[in-house]
Amino acid sequence: MKFFVDTADIDAIRELHELGMIDGVTTNPSLIMKSGRDIKEVTKEICDLVDGPVSAETVALDSEGMIAEGRELAKIADNITIKVPLTWDGLKACKVLTDEGRMVNVTLCFSANQALLAAKAGATFISPFIGRLDDLNLDGLDLISDIRQIYDNYGFETNILAASIRSANHMSDCAKIGADVATAPPAVIHAMANHVLTDKGLDAFLSDWKKTGQKIL
Ligand code: E4P
Repeated sequence: MKFFVDTADIDAIRELHELGMIDGVTTNPSLIMKSGRDIKEVTKEICDLVDGPVSAETVALDSEGMIAEGRELAKIADNITIKVPLTWDGLKACKVLTDEGRMVNVTLCFSANQALLAAKAGATFISPFIGRLDDLNLDGLDLISDIRQIYDNYGFETNILAASIRSANHMSDCAKIGADVATAPPAVIHAMANHVLTDKGLDAFLSDWKKTGQKIL
């Protein structure tokens, strides 16, 4: 499973990129707002840093507007993925932009039917939002499973990009189900390294080591 990081924070992206942990980046209007940066400037910096797909989201509600904004965002760099919402207009924009040879990420997906339509429209990525479904006492991971099954049944090439990830467990669950990509905030990727038994084991080793009176360096 590929890892994308869900942020527009350049320092966080740089750190994960230098460690070889990430294969791409996703942003959205809320993350751009949080960065306090100009969308084109910060997206260009991200694209200069990371070779993989960098999602930049349109904000128009009509397909014409999304197409125009998508073409403008695509001028930033070759690895831009144009993000459009899963509405009827978003699907129209997805079809046009995909036919132009551009990468398109259809976002705000909350049902298997929506994912089916995005695949028919030729989306490069479909972004089902796990956490926002879980917040409503629904099961976001079930949605990932359903889409995996449907895409595999018919050989759809659209990549499942699990989004709205809130915990380290979501990452391994998505990998078990077979999501192609998972996008997570930097803190969730860091949290994947944590285990209470690792900390406990380390404490015990260090306490015994102290008793030996030895040094390695
Ligand atoms: C995905 O591309 C979105 O940017 C993101 O995963 C949304 O996550 P949230 O529900 O935590 O805002």
